[in-house]
Formats: sequence, C-alpha cells, structure tokens
Amino acid sequence: MNMLASSAALLETESAFDVLSRAQKRAAAGHPIINLGIGQPDFQTSAYIVEAAIKALRDGQHGYTAATGTAELRAGVSAYYDRFFGLAVDSDSVLVVPGGKVTMAFAMMLLGEAGREILYPDPGFPIYRSMAGYSGARPAPYALHEDKGFSFSADEILERVNDNTRLIILNSPGNPTGGSNLEAEVEALARGLEAFPNCAVLSDEIYSRLYFDGASHLSLLRFEALRDRLIVLDGWSKTYAMTGWRLGWGIWPASMIGAATKLAINIHSCVNAPAQAAALAALEGLQDDVETMRLAFQARRDLIHARLNALPGVTAARPKGAFYAFPNISGLGLSAQQVQDQWLEDLNVAAIAGTSFGAAGEGYVRLSFANSTENIEAALDRIEGWVRRL
Ligand SMILES: Cc1ncc(COP(=O)(O)O)c(C=O)c1O
Repeated sequence: MNMLASSAALLETESAFDVLSRAQKRAAAGHPIINLGIGQPDFQTSAYIVEAAIKALRDGQHGYTAATGTAELRAGVSAYYDRFFGLAVDSDSVLVVPGGKVTMAFAMMLLGEAGREILYPDPGFPIYRSMAGYSGARPAPYALHEDKGFSFSADEILERVNDNTRLIILNSPGNPTGGSNLEAEVEALARGLEAFPNCAVLSDEIYSRLYFDGASHLSLLRFEALRDRLIVLDGWSKTYAMTGWRLGWGIWPASMIGAATKLAINIHSCVNAPAQAAALAALEGLQDDVETMRLAFQARRDLIHARLNALPGVTAARPKGAFYAFPNISGLGLSAQQVQDQWLEDLNVAAIAGTSFGAAGEGYVRLSFANSTENIEAALDRIEGWVRRL
C-alpha cells in the first residue's frame, strides 16, 4: 500500500548522510574510521555565541518571534552585509530560517511548477536537483568546468535559458568542488539575463566567508540589475561552526518576500528564539574565531592538495574556498562509487563519490578537509598505500 502523493517519489537525498551513517556503524564496531565525508566545520561554536543563547534562555526569550526573524536580527544581517561586503541590504528583505537549506526549498517551492525549468550546477549540492524536481519543475543541469576552476560558462547557461526557465541556481564557493565562479562569467551571465526578466536567480553563498589566498567573495547582490529577482542564501552554519543550531537567512526581492514569509508561517512559524539571540551575537561579535578557522582550513587545503597530487593517477585542482577537495580519480580505472566503497570498507576512510553530486561527478571523489591535519595525513597515508597496491 502506498498512501503517499506521487510527488513524494520525486524526492532524492543527500548521500553524505548515508555515508556518515555507514561510517558511524563501522566506527561503533571498532573500525578506525577517519571521516572526510561530512561537510561541517570540526570546530565548536565560539563561547560568546553559546553564552548569548544561554542568556536569552535565562532572560525568558521562550516565545514565538516574528515569522521573519526578530527585528534586531534582521537589522543585524543588514549591518553584516555592510560590514563584510560593503553592500546595502534592506533589513525588510531578510528572512531568517531554520538552516540554509530552507531558503533553497522555499525558492523552489515558490518558483517551480510543472512546465517550468530550474537550472542547477552538476556537480552540485544534491538538494538542488531533488527540490527542483519535487516542485514539479524540470531540473536541468549545467556544467562546471575543472579547467576554469570549476566555474560555469555564462554562454552555456544562457544557451539553456528559455521562456520556461524560472530559476537558475548558482553556488560559489562551491560544494562539492571547492571552486569558485569566475568574475567574468558571473558578469556575462548577469548581462545576458537582462533579456530574461522572468528568470530568477538563487545564489547559494553559504561559504561566502571561506575563501583562501586573499580572494574575496563576489556576491550576486553586487549586480543591481538582478536585485528584483535575486534570492541570496547564506547563514551561520559554515561561517560560525553552527550547523546543528539550524539557522540561515535569505535575502529576498520585494516581490517575493511576502510569499516566502507565508511559507515560513505555514511551515515553522519562526526560528528558535534563543538561537536568534546567539545568531545576532555571532554577526556582531569579534570575528577572530572565523579567521582562525579560515586559516586552519587554508593550511589543511595546502596539505590535502599536495598529498592528492602526489598520488599516481590522481590530479586535484586547488580549492579556492569552502572545505572540499574534488580530485579527479579517473586515472585509477575505478568508478567514483567503487573508490568511495573501497576507501570506506578497506581503508576506513569516508569520502563521497562525485556521482552523489550529479552525473558529471563521475571520475571524482569529494574529500572534506574539515578534519585535523593528523587525520588528513593518516587518511592520505592509507589512500597512498591503496593506490600503490592497485
Ligand atoms: C552548498 C550548500 N548549500 C547549503 C547548505 C545547507 O546549509 P545548512 O546546514 O545551513 O542548511 C550546504 C550544507 O552542506 C551546502 O553545502
């Protein structure tokens, strides 16, 4: 008996969670697992942020807040854009939600339906395709190019845009590639989209503060001409090591924020009140821990990049941001899934097959370097021994 609506069959999943549970089972059975599969900082939330949540609880912030997020927090997000990116963002355009993923889901629920198309990056965060399909729209992949640092090509995207395309999803720095979109391509896309005023853009900027080598983030908010159809996804999860707090924000155009707020009221009413107090403290406080974390990721990036490129049959682009390496393993003569399974079963190293991020991920594996240098060294020692035995 299947009582579910037929749309339920359209939902896909994130295999990172599947690999995580397999790795946890092996660890519980005594295997020396090193987890380079999971995409979250291996740091604790800063003490001043935790204290702000505890204080809010003690002060009695136990009730519902405005569905959009508290006025203070929305103003805090607006001030954050000014402080870190020199960008003017109206606090009325901010919708605080329980996790970055919620902005993603809302964008697709509000813009997707049968007969429409949603363009998404392949390889890309698997939920893009899943939620696009669930909305009823046709998910249409566009390519990222390893030789362009895993940027998209504006011409390729624009060739695919038609009158039915209602949303284009962009993500930079990118999961799973660690690449970032080239400024010239972003500019060309923004220009080209002027001819398609009904096509919105969802810019997933969840790794906006995690760039290396002095590079800085190019927010789509810089493109004034796009602002009336641009949704920006960002949040606290990666920047402030707060994945478990479930907090994110969206910047919405004036024409959509009302509908997005209605979805919030229908689905979650508002975000956890003490967590919002902590979120404000995070944005306003000293950013020393953000920088410490970024520098740690950069050092690990150097390590993993060098170790991967020393492996025969493997080449790895240098990650520019986020905390993922996406080596090309096509020279090993095994599929991405085989590599993932053998590393997990034979080496006790958890990593994710590139195909978990789309068909174009064949020939690649994603390794998260949100793990200690000791663990990265030990995992790469095991992988090196395995490659030499192949
Ligand atoms: C590209 C990308 N977008 C969004 C998210 C979701 O973030 P959150 O945990 O805040 O929902 C992730 C998390 O892994 C991600 O990698």
